[in-house]
Amino acid sequence: MQAEQRNLQIRIIPVYNLFMSQKNSFANHPMAIRCIGWAWLQGALVWALCVVAVTVLTSACSPVITAQRLSPEAALGEKAFNDLSLSASGRQSCASCHAAVVGHAAPNALAVQLGGANLNVQGVRASQSLRYLATNPAFHIDAEGTPTGGFFWDGRADTLAIQAAGPLLRDIEMANTDKASVVRKIANAAWAADFKSVYGDNVLNDVDLAFAKLTLALQRYQLEDDSFQSFSSKYDAVLRNEATLSAPETRGAGIVQQRRQGQLCLLSHL
Ligand code: HEC
Repeated sequence: MQAEQRNLQIRIIPVYNLFMSQKNSFANHPMAIRCIGWAWLQGALVWALCVVAVTVLTSACSPVITAQRLSPEAALGEKAFNDLSLSASGRQSCASCHAAVVGHAAPNALAVQLGGANLNVQGVRASQSLRYLATNPAFHIDAEGTPTGGFFWDGRADTLAIQAAGPLLRDIEMANTDKASVVRKIANAAWAADFKSVYGDNVLNDVDLAFAKLTLALQRYQLEDDSFQSFSSKYDAVLRNEATLSAPETRGAGIVQQRRQGQLCLLSHL
């Protein structure tokens, strides 16, 4: 019984227990030793208080840090981007064909992805990576006559928002029959309340408006989330003066930067 009580005491009030045992043992020692003992105890208590303070401050600050990662509109876009329920099949999201772990490209070895209401219709083009599109301009012919910019392989969409409407409605992708069916899915989504808080309580009553806002949220997510523009290659580190090229790499960089047929290889391929 005594042993049980002692165990209980050690488990429940270990600091108090330590404090009391030390206090009692100091009482039998000369004054100098008692002073050292008290100083030690006070130090231990200050240390414990610091640990508690740091823990409380960290947990109080972390939601603020999380909230600042993305604006409310972009955070909404992130939820929509990953939501399977936005497709006719209920089994396909944007992330199904653009997975973050593989550069926001297709997460499998298929040349083209399957889509459609039953997820059994073959696509016609390879799923593109969505990296480094934040500064991509609308399609145009540049000063040197080079076709430049635009979204999709052929550059037919001028902005990320215009682009996002494509897969939501295309029969070989997420295969929603019309905008109204997409808006009904938004209304049933786990993030419907967030959608209304960002775009207004009545937004879901206007199909065209709600559909347009969804595409804007998807655009904002792709513009704001660092994972779409991570700049994590060795070459990026060199540009930031955080790494240096080896001798063969320096020779290669020189070759890439040479003008060929009026174009900079560096600009065309990096
Ligand atoms: C079934 C697979 C699939 C799904 C689902 C899908 N995409 Fe795509 N995505 C593709 C393919 C294929 C292309 C290229 C199509 C083309 O060029 O006609 C593409 C192209 C893009 C591009 C253009 C990239 C560039 O470099 O120009 C963006 C941006 C994009 N998708 C975003 C999205 C978003 C946002 C969603 C969700 C609303 C989505 N995709 C859903 C397969 C998919």
